[in-house]
Amino acid sequence: MKPSLSICCLGAGYVGGPTMAMIAAKCPDIRVTVTDPNEARIAAWNSDTLPVYEPGLQEVVESARDKNLFFSTDIKGAIKEADIIFVSVGTPTKHYGKGAGRAADLKYIESAARMIAEVAEGPKIVVEKSTLPVRTASALLTILRSNSTKATFQVLSNPEFLAEGTAIEDLENPDRVLIGGEQTPEGLAAIEKVVAIYSRWVPREKILTTNLWSSELSKLVANAFLAQRISSINSISALCEATEADVDEVARAIGHDSRIGPKFLKASVGYGGSCFQKDILNLSYLCEHFGLPEVAAYWESVVKINDWQKSRFASRIITDLFNTVSGKHIGILGFAFKKDTNDTRETAAIAVCRDLLAEGAKVYVYDPQVSEEQIRADVLGKKENENLIVVKTALEACNGAHGVAVLTEWDEFKSLDFQKIYDGMLKPAFLFDGRNILPHAKLKDLGFRVFAIGKSF
Ligand SMILES: NC(=O)c1ccc[n+]([C@@H]2O[C@H](COP(=O)([O-])OP(=O)(O)OC[C@H]3O[C@@H](n4cnc5c(N)ncnc54)[C@H](O)[C@@H]3O)[C@@H](O)[C@H]2O)c1
Repeated sequence: MKPSLSICCLGAGYVGGPTMAMIAAKCPDIRVTVTDPNEARIAAWNSDTLPVYEPGLQEVVESARDKNLFFSTDIKGAIKEADIIFVSVGTPTKHYGKGAGRAADLKYIESAARMIAEVAEGPKIVVEKSTLPVRTASALLTILRSNSTKATFQVLSNPEFLAEGTAIEDLENPDRVLIGGEQTPEGLAAIEKVVAIYSRWVPREKILTTNLWSSELSKLVANAFLAQRISSINSISALCEATEADVDEVARAIGHDSRIGPKFLKASVGYGGSCFQKDILNLSYLCEHFGLPEVAAYWESVVKINDWQKSRFASRIITDLFNTVSGKHIGILGFAFKKDTNDTRETAAIAVCRDLLAEGAKVYVYDPQVSEEQIRADVLGKKENENLIVVKTALEACNGAHGVAVLTEWDEFKSLDFQKIYDGMLKPAFLFDGRNILPHAKLKDLGFRVFAIGKSF
């Protein structure tokens, strides 16, 4: 079958891979090519071991791969062939020069735009899928239009709202799809082309169209609001611990207020993930850039509370273990930033492990999906430290431990053999539940000393 449309995506990461696989699976007549310069990543997308762990992803990829879904390192070839080019490259926090530590690093976006300008011919729609500072589309358009004579461009913003761990569910049945574009006849026509793709499976009323700047900004604001709810409940968790209120009961009580709602009120050791922190820092940086220091400070405090929550958790472990963890065995259950993903970017586990290692603890880490290399690289960078030991089962992490901390809410941790764990630990046996998922009453009955976020047992 000759494809009705060719699309390509620059960036085969956590967003590019799953989003394009879903489009291909839903639109068999559209040819979808996902590209990346990273050969190992592309080889993995073409293998049985995908580079991204997501429930349901393998099935979606396999349903379309080599039919109308292709993974390739031939970026230029894919751009040439495509009518619509999605750009889903990383936009990490800049770590050098002006804006270091806060602004988004746009070097990958800019080089993608320059490559598109170099090889594109004819009319092309370039879609920002990456999360970008508001008004980036204007810079993109300038780069594209001033470096190409053979192509004409429309730039759209179509930010991705999927959450890792539930990416397939979120893509299949999104709360909304957002598409922003220039409010000109050409811009509106380009918006309609992308609307037509999503409307194959997303109800039309859930596809929102806006101007470019609202779309770009909405993605940053959505992440800032989500993170703000977590920091809000986490700040209250500390007050609960001091007052014998229970943070889960408080969350339930306030969540029943329909103006507040129940979601994103789960207190924890702190949020992680590649997006929340970088997007808020970027939002705060933008506010300052536009002369709004009060707004910048407001949003930055969301990140500060999160950092504090992580360090307060590590401090609590040290305090409870009689003010020293030097030479003590601490078991860490879970390293990914949340369950059902192998992504460790900005995971709270990095900060907690580092704090414990700095105090001389022997840290035994177990995660069901994260590799040893990844854990070592995240915690130690290029350094070595024999006090960081990565093990293959939860039991190994706990055996002989003075204390055990749960840092990711993997389901398997809820039903561990806690009697066996207790028997294998030094006494008193301490359990620190950074996700409030364990059966606390039962654990106390077994003899554990339990600490959980926002509780005062
Ligand atoms: N991870 C999430 O949950 C999530 C959710 C929504 C939005 N986002 C946003 O989506 C964007 C991508 O995030 P991610 O998690 O997929 O990042 P990622 O790091 O997993 O993937 C980015 C990929 O882009 C590739 N790349 C860089 N330059 C390229 C180029 N010129 N051409 C082709 N490929 C190139 C890299 O090699 C890398 O594999 C970011 O802006 C992020 O903020 C992420």
